Amino acid sequence: MPTLLAIQSSPRGDYSVSRKLTAQFIDDWKAQHSGETVVMRDLMKTELPFVDLPWIMGAFTPAEQHSPEIKKAIAISNDLIAELMAADHIVVGTSMYNYSIPAVLKAYIDHIVRVGVTFSPSYEGLVKGKKLSIILASGGVYTPGAPTEGYNVAISYLKLIFGFIGITDVNVVLAGGTSAIDKGETTLPQLIGQFEPAVADAVQA
Ligand SMILES: Cc1cc2nc3c(=O)[nH]c(=O)nc-3n(C[C@H](O)[C@H](O)[C@H](O)COP(=O)(O)O)c2cc1C
Repeated sequence: MPTLLAIQSSPRGDYSVSRKLTAQFIDDWKAQHSGETVVMRDLMKTELPFVDLPWIMGAFTPAEQHSPEIKKAIAISNDLIAELMAADHIVVGTSMYNYSIPAVLKAYIDHIVRVGVTFSPSYEGLVKGKKLSIILASGGVYTPGAPTEGYNVAISYLKLIFGFIGITDVNVVLAGGTSAIDKGETTLPQLIGQFEPAVADAVQA
């Protein structure tokens, strides 16, 4: 039974381009898979503490030695990793913030990248056989090959860190130019329509 894990991170609800395109990705993916399961992980609705000392102690010591405080700190990490491991395909919908990813998505990544669990002590990725699609909404445009491409740290970082834990089959939808909506040069439905074919391609890839 194929499983899609859909991670949403924009705080903008119905105004969010990445949320709408990720929702379209889910619909397209469901249409192509029978008996499928879709697991929704909305990071804006998830309590995601930053890594703290009990968390670090939990990540670097055997579970049998964990105090109740450590168990509590590491529980969300265990849950998020189990969810990731159970997925065949992962779609991440994200905004570009300050040329990178929103802090909430970085907090998620800090929970799922764990030695001995998602990567080995010799730095081999342990999350194998999965596909990742990334849908990035940005105010500006960062076309591959254009002088602005290097500013898109969001995509280079996401590819690096998911590759590090073993997810190397990655495709990307760059939904750039969302600031045109704010300027009144286009509308949200028009912009979404512009990227729908790229989302459909990402489902197939
Ligand atoms: C705090 C903040 C930082 C942003 N930084 C950038 C940026 O560095 N580059 C850019 O092109 N757009 C930037 N934007 C614009 C967002 O990427 C854009 O509004 C995008 O559509 C947000 O994704 P969403 O529509 O899914 O919410 C920023 C927006 C906010 C609120």
